[in-house]
Amino acid sequence: EWTMDHVVEMQIEKIREEVQDRHVLCALSGGVDSSVVAVLLHKAIGDQLTCIFVDHGLLRKNEADDVMKMFEEGFHINVIKVDAQDRFLDKLSGVSDPEKKRKIIGNEFIEVFDEQADQLTDIDYLAQGTLYTDIIESGTETAQTIKSHHNVGGLPEHMNLELIEPLKALFKDEVRRLGEELGVPEHIVWRQPFPGPGLGIRVLGEITQEKLEIVRESDAILREEIKINDLERDVWQYFTALPGVQSVGVQGDERSYNHTVAIRAVTSVDGMTSDWARLPWEVLEKISNRITNEVSHVNRVVYDITSKPPATIEWE
Ligand code: XMP
Repeated sequence: EWTMDHVVEMQIEKIREEVQDRHVLCALSGGVDSSVVAVLLHKAIGDQLTCIFVDHGLLRKNEADDVMKMFEEGFHINVIKVDAQDRFLDKLSGVSDPEKKRKIIGNEFIEVFDEQADQLTDIDYLAQGTLYTDIIESGTETAQTIKSHHNVGGLPEHMNLELIEPLKALFKDEVRRLGEELGVPEHIVWRQPFPGPGLGIRVLGEITQEKLEIVRESDAILREEIKINDLERDVWQYFTALPGVQSVGVQGDERSYNHTVAIRAVTSVDGMTSDWARLPWEVLEKISNRITNEVSHVNRVVYDITSKPPATIEWE
């Protein structure tokens, strides 16, 4: 009979059989997928696993610290943290095309990762949290590429590592169940998906430190309010985006000409299609008030009421 504990056992056995006494490197993002991969591998091969966590400066508020605390102190997993914020921002400076941004972030990620991997001896495998959905959406011979997901596409050949992708037959909800079975804490398992390119695709157009700050702070407020109002399980994914639109407002007694923040909150099963979440108006009101009051350079908040299709969940 098909049960989750059986799936876990089979996966662990499969990983042990394949890896034996060799060493595995894992790109840890702190998202559901890579977290589950890391814990699964750690269960299977213990200290033969090393994780690399790249802080590309496109993370959510407090995310880097939270991830390090969770995996180092909580799980006792070997994690190397790389501070690469400046490198990513430099490479992205002046670039506004969404696909170019994605490619730059993806390539830079591999480069940073590659440099770290080169410093480690004895690594034979690279583990990735690729899902079934990622593979579909990145396009096959028959399907057209919708967005280039940055964790798909394999590795540069010179890295000479074999790929392990234990989640590639699973949908998101199955990964969550697998995580629960592995004893991954609830707040991680039920963490909403976060894209590899991070806030970089939520600041539309050219990325600047100031714009990143607006998205980071407004997103933190949104997440806090969703949590306070106990809506985390009702909404599949929620975040703010910065469309790059400035409009006229009145703040204090003065005319302002400031940014618009967009709230995106969707219901979905697997991210392939989605509907906009019917968040309670009082909650939206509170979020809007807090964002305009607490985040500098914002005078307007809008709510995205588009399903997927025709829109995608992310704005880029
Ligand atoms: P879209 O915007 O294509 O997103 O409707 C569907 C789901 O995928 C996430 N997403 C990504 N995840 N790497 C990822 O790991 C990526 O490059 C990427 N782009 C989008 C998105 O957040 C949503 O959950």
